[in-house]
Amino acid sequence: MFTDLHSIDTLVSLAKRRGFIFQSSEIYGGLNGCWDYGPLGVELLRNIKEAWWKAMTYRDDVEGLDASILMHARVWEASGHVENFTDPMVDCRGCKARYRLDVLFDSYNEKRKRKIAEGLAAMRPGVLVGGRDTTAELAEAVADALSEDPSVFEALNEKELLPCPACGRTGSFTIPRKFNLMFKTFIGPVEDASAVVYLRPETAQGIFVNFANVAQTMRQKVPFGIAQIGKAFRNEINTKNFLYRTREFEQMEMQFFVEPGTDMEWFEKWKEERMRWFLDLGMRQGKLRFHPHPPEKLAHYARAAVDIEYEFPFGWGEIEGIHNRTDYDLSRHMEYSGKSLEYFDDEKKEKYVPYVIETSAGASRSLMAFLVDAYAEEQLDNETRTVLRFHPRLAPYKAAVLPLVNRDGMEDIGRHLYRSLQKELPVFYDDSGSIGRRYRRQDEIGTPFAITIDSQTLQDETVTVRDRDTMQQIRIAMDACSRYLHDELKM
Ligand code: GAP
Repeated sequence: MFTDLHSIDTLVSLAKRRGFIFQSSEIYGGLNGCWDYGPLGVELLRNIKEAWWKAMTYRDDVEGLDASILMHARVWEASGHVENFTDPMVDCRGCKARYRLDVLFDSYNEKRKRKIAEGLAAMRPGVLVGGRDTTAELAEAVADALSEDPSVFEALNEKELLPCPACGRTGSFTIPRKFNLMFKTFIGPVEDASAVVYLRPETAQGIFVNFANVAQTMRQKVPFGIAQIGKAFRNEINTKNFLYRTREFEQMEMQFFVEPGTDMEWFEKWKEERMRWFLDLGMRQGKLRFHPHPPEKLAHYARAAVDIEYEFPFGWGEIEGIHNRTDYDLSRHMEYSGKSLEYFDDEKKEKYVPYVIETSAGASRSLMAFLVDAYAEEQLDNETRTVLRFHPRLAPYKAAVLPLVNRDGMEDIGRHLYRSLQKELPVFYDDSGSIGRRYRRQDEIGTPFAITIDSQTLQDETVTVRDRDTMQQIRIAMDACSRYLHDELKM
């Protein structure tokens, strides 16, 4: 019987111990919100990105792209990021602690949240809808009131209902200020306003500004898409939960350009296709769900939006968003650049600005979901076995070669087999310690197959192949190992 991961801390510790993820700049005390991918982490990340790239671009109607991270500053004015990509923040005048408004409210206990909600109801009758009585519903009402009207925060603060979580002072917060999440830098030697550029907070804009280039050079006709994998940067005020919210991360985004009027049909198609991708890579169905955005919560340019959520140990969280972005982005870039991004439909003899269906997944956040989903503990007779049950396509190593003992020439045979398999697949060789411990080490990093050279190998050139999940072993001819692995891995 397998049991799931209970706490992210267990995963953080395994990820470090086994070379998946290290804290950035660890020897200097670390850099908040940034992580380094170790030897196994980088393989896992590459496998995820490779699976996405194949699924999304090895088809007739989607082209690939790799746009630069630094883009013209006007791009971010057109996209709305300069004006709107902000979080409201407050500082404690007493101890200087800084909080994002929603995070501050989240940090309070249930009793305090109720007190705040009651304070709000007394100030603004009608803010709380009748019948809302769970803390979560009250919290949502307060969060809505806070985001709609900054004076609500000031009033709650003056009434001393908001203690600083760090120092406990009340009435000590500054008025909320907008904090833009884009990292700013300068291009060239002069650091003045005309030299400002931003590290992109999403890869999508690189796709929008190249819409006409790709359509023309690849002679693509609408409907078609452009896909891109790349780094994105957000100066998140509160990073949290390991890789879930970081300041530097990777996105896997695709913008699918369609004729207006056909957009909702394509939205539904991509929604299903993207969910299927996670399932095909072994993610458990019960841990995935769609979370549709209610109409009143949609961004002003969106006609529909749905998140694919995964159930992490800390609760449900978005791993991918699918959005119907209408013609907003292309129209804004037309307005700001003065260049036409209209599409001429040869058959219908009409011109229009295409609508966009966007699929936007975090590569790093998906990696975390795949890690959480793969993690399992199995109670055996006298020990607990930890195993990462990755889909074989994602596993960093596909097989390990293990001579049973270090004598009688078994290690030479093992090394020879390892070298020949290594030409085709990422494989691992290990001849140190008991065979049981070596199996456990491979289980813990998710290697699907362990090939053992034993005394029978010396007689008939056969080996055992152990399956990571069932621990069952079969015996096959040594020279059939490569074929066997390729068949089982379906690579
Ligand atoms: N172009 C649309 C866009 O960027 P988003 O919901 O802001 O939409 C899309 O981001 C995906 O990028 C999210 O579903 C998540 O997987 C990932 N993501 C966003 N912010 C992130 C962060 N700070 N750290 C890690 N991943 C993040």
